[in-house]
Amino acid sequence: MNKLVVVGVGLIGGSFAAALKRAKVAFEYIGVARRESVRQEAVAVGLVDRAVATLAEVAPELGEGDVVFIAVPTLSVAKVIEDCARLLDPKVIVTDGASVKGSILQAVEAAYGEIPGQVVLGHPIAGSEKSGVSAADPYLYRKHKVILTPTAQTDKSCLRKISDLWLLAGAEVVYMDVEEHDQVLAATSHLPHLLAFALVDALARDEEHENIFRYAAGGFRDFTRIASSDPQMWHDIMCANGAAIVRSLDLFTNNIQYLRDAIVSQESTKILELFTRAKSSRDEFAKLISHRTRDAKMQNIINYRLQPGGSVTGRIRVPGDKSISHRSIMLGSLAEGTTQVTGFLEGEDALATIAAFRGMGVQIEGPEAGRVTVHGVGLHGLQPPAEALNMGNSGTSMRLLSGIAAGQSFDVTLTGDESLSKRPMNRVADPLRLMGVTVDTQEGGRPPITIHGKGKTQAIHYDLPMASAQVKSCVLLAGLYGEGTTSITEPAPTRDHTERMLRGFGYPVATDGANVSLPGGGKLVATDIDVPADISSATFFLVAAAITPGSDLTLEHVGVNPTRIGVINILRAMGANLQLSNEREVGGEPVADIRIQYAPLKGIDIPEDQVPLAIDEFPALFIAAACAEGATRLSGAEELRVKESDRIQVMADGLVNLGVKATPTPDGMIIEPGPIGGGDIFTHHDHRIAMAFTVAALAATDEIRIHDCANVATSFPGFVPLAKQVGILIEEQTL
Ligand code: S3P
Repeated sequence: MNKLVVVGVGLIGGSFAAALKRAKVAFEYIGVARRESVRQEAVAVGLVDRAVATLAEVAPELGEGDVVFIAVPTLSVAKVIEDCARLLDPKVIVTDGASVKGSILQAVEAAYGEIPGQVVLGHPIAGSEKSGVSAADPYLYRKHKVILTPTAQTDKSCLRKISDLWLLAGAEVVYMDVEEHDQVLAATSHLPHLLAFALVDALARDEEHENIFRYAAGGFRDFTRIASSDPQMWHDIMCANGAAIVRSLDLFTNNIQYLRDAIVSQESTKILELFTRAKSSRDEFAKLISHRTRDAKMQNIINYRLQPGGSVTGRIRVPGDKSISHRSIMLGSLAEGTTQVTGFLEGEDALATIAAFRGMGVQIEGPEAGRVTVHGVGLHGLQPPAEALNMGNSGTSMRLLSGIAAGQSFDVTLTGDESLSKRPMNRVADPLRLMGVTVDTQEGGRPPITIHGKGKTQAIHYDLPMASAQVKSCVLLAGLYGEGTTSITEPAPTRDHTERMLRGFGYPVATDGANVSLPGGGKLVATDIDVPADISSATFFLVAAAITPGSDLTLEHVGVNPTRIGVINILRAMGANLQLSNEREVGGEPVADIRIQYAPLKGIDIPEDQVPLAIDEFPALFIAAACAEGATRLSGAEELRVKESDRIQVMADGLVNLGVKATPTPDGMIIEPGPIGGGDIFTHHDHRIAMAFTVAALAATDEIRIHDCANVATSFPGFVPLAKQVGILIEEQTL
């Protein structure tokens, strides 16, 4: 069994061990503490399995797969790093939890003579005023951020291992470079502590006003609370991060000097201006933390535990199509009259779209049992939102709404959760700018995105640089407000729900081969929409049946739009036994019942023309490939790297964790099938990763634990009960 050595079993180290033990991470847990009483207590309370006085005592036992976590006070870390450099096999991963990173990195360089790949520095942003073994808390890191600060030399697999451990401890992992970390922390944490200590000390020593604190009230208490923190710890931090703190302190001192001068010279506008500016920044921050607390409260950590085996039989209907649900709200809102939607997907993504349009003054009733009533306001009836519109995890909401916002005569800012905030938005910002609209994004074209609409757009022709229905739809929706005809050419066919639904709302859209065009200045007339079941959600069950001997499953009322059936074509090419029946059209979208029975699968080279038609289905298809006879190769799918997670890397990591030979390539993957074992899977907040590995359990030989599955609710509410119903051995655990 691998070993986790925790050097320093106080609050930070003890809580790390406690959290991993609680998550049943299989390690031998070893504590290092100089004082015997601490060692005894750590073993007695079960924090560690054994405890030693020095790292040297345990170092000879350590090798590949073992981890040393340094959790001693900041100024003592360097000494432990020296021990690590001297005593440990380079295969042992070394990580730490100190609040300052620059000085630790210097210590690493000094001790090793270079920055070795196996050292991964980190800083959990969590703490407590308590300390010592008894303060160790398995929940300390739950929903707290951990900043990892890899360097160019850091070994990727070591980084991933440490990141995985933090995720297992319940934390959220973010990455920064060392310098940025130290500067950010200096400004937001170290400087405020320094000021609190300085203020309390200055007032306490003011000889003219003895016992001054007797009269102090809430303001003083709020400002100085942190001056009760551990002086030794903060002393260490000030010494270790001096340069960055001094930089922030200088900024602050300049401001103080400016205010002092303004008071002395009675320049009251200067004072008022500064205070007003500060108040508005503080109010923004207050909003941010209240959103954060609300999000954290709403979002439990959900894990799935799957027993190997199970069966797949029955007749089921999966929830409504996500793409069509989004569009029903968007076009319903822009239409004249009332649109009735049935079969609406009550997942978080589609709900984010509803909330956004409500935020722009549209009255929307429901959803209730899949029914939504949208009281359209017409193309020019949206109202300016009072605040930024939060799209949650939904890329479709953000990209399509950007197109609609481009035609408004007010500004709209769109924000998203951590995963969406990393996704590229220049793909929509670029064409919108060509349409004469000012669009602001963050560095690298990331959200939040602000669209400064001018009430109309310039019609353009746009050659889509990538096969993306979201970008196509964004341009077409902006084209509704265009002066003239807006047209696009696609490099490959992508889902055409926007075009179909616009026609359903009576808007003329012309399609000619790879070209789609529409005139600006028309109107949409309300209509009723019956949303078919989502083929992307159905896919998990199609694959489940395809890989499980004896299975026989029927999925009802599934949308089988020709631009979405790549998964059917690919599964058939692999030898799956699939039949479509009861084929019909509802509201301009083809639907069918799909019956699938087990048949052995064979590996294939996936035809590139099927990639855009199955773009969301690859996580599940990779599982099918792992169960086939012979290798499967995917190429031309680089778009998978910018979905809710990097689906090529995250799926490959997961498959490898389960013992399958999966080799990621820049634009795809090669999967050589083999027995699927058990293990831990990290979803990286991606709903489809969670569901794909749920299905893998049917073919596994051991238990699979899937971490961080809360986002399944973005696209597939009710997934777990439905999976149980067909025969998958799944248990949901909420932390
Ligand atoms: C979608 C288009 C696809 C797909 C996404 C939904 C849509 O994204 O992956 O889940 O509703 O238009 P891209 O346009 O980025 O390929």
